[in-house]
Amino acid sequence: MKRVLVTGADGSIGRAAVIGLQKSGYDVTGLSLRYDHTSTADRPLAGDARSAKDVTAALDGVDAVLHLAAIPHPSLGTPEEVFENNVAATFNVLAQAGQQGIDRVVIASSINAFGVPMNVNEVQPAYYPLDEEVEADIADAYSLSKSVDEQSARMAWRRWGTNVIALRFPLVKTREELFKFAAMAERDPSVMAREGWAYLDLRDGVRAIIAALESPAGGAHVVGLAADDILIDRQTDELLREYAPTVPLRRPVTGRGSLVDTTRARELLGFRPQYSIHDEDQVVSAVTT
Ligand SMILES: NC(=O)c1ccc[n+]([C@@H]2O[C@H](COP(=O)([O-])OP(=O)(O)OC[C@H]3O[C@@H](n4cnc5c(N)ncnc54)[C@H](O)[C@@H]3O)[C@@H](O)[C@H]2O)c1
Repeated sequence: MKRVLVTGADGSIGRAAVIGLQKSGYDVTGLSLRYDHTSTADRPLAGDARSAKDVTAALDGVDAVLHLAAIPHPSLGTPEEVFENNVAATFNVLAQAGQQGIDRVVIASSINAFGVPMNVNEVQPAYYPLDEEVEADIADAYSLSKSVDEQSARMAWRRWGTNVIALRFPLVKTREELFKFAAMAERDPSVMAREGWAYLDLRDGVRAIIAALESPAGGAHVVGLAADDILIDRQTDELLREYAPTVPLRRPVTGRGSLVDTTRARELLGFRPQYSIHDEDQVVSAVTT
């Protein structure tokens, strides 16, 4: 694997992934609807991930694909726009890659793929810690698009033998941005309760992406990700008693322990997060640099 196509290369995860891949020795082709930032990709292409022509051109000389292009929140378009863009882009990228015999694709799914966090109704997760099998209860176009993307990944494996890993990202931000989200969530913990106050430092997001691209795992897999702790500086069991008292807890969680089960990420990808928002050393360096 030498050259990776990154779709959504101008996005917040995309820009960091392009740099991370280059630091790991890969050549990178970027594809994005437009570029509002200067891309470090050595082949940055403007194009639509829904277009067979644009994706075919972008796949020239490519050995593996990282598909991030999406409208990343239901509020950023009408339900029709969000669903159509995300599902059509993922299917098209998988179809073009599959038909060209590219056998390794990593796609961005979301912790929202099971639908509960963004659900407009008063629903709760079936249990904590959240794992990849937790029952879906979907009431918005974005969550549905991510759930369908995971099905498209399974189809691509069956139809073209493409090995696909769908990473269920939680909130993925730089350390500085995470502090802002944490302050907001601390003011009102109910806003992130249904996603278990989960987060992932952007640097760990990029490490997980590279682990998935380099994984020898065959087949199509959904993999949940999160930092080892929660975003809020409070004890997890205390938050659960307050904000999710009726949700069964399948195993005890101590301290600020995470409410996402990341066993599969460890076992399939050998991935463990390195960064915590609560790590004092990092707080010091973030403040002084
Ligand atoms: N950042 C997070 O917290 C988070 C959490 C869960 C999942 N995700 C997923 O990760 C991926 C990347 O998220 P992000 O935060 O970097 O989003 P972002 O909005 O910063 O980047 C997305 C990029 O994709 C591009 N794009 C959208 N539709 C396209 C299309 N049809 N063709 C080509 N380019 C297109 C946009 O122009 C943008 O540059 C998305 O799939 C998102 O749903 C992100």
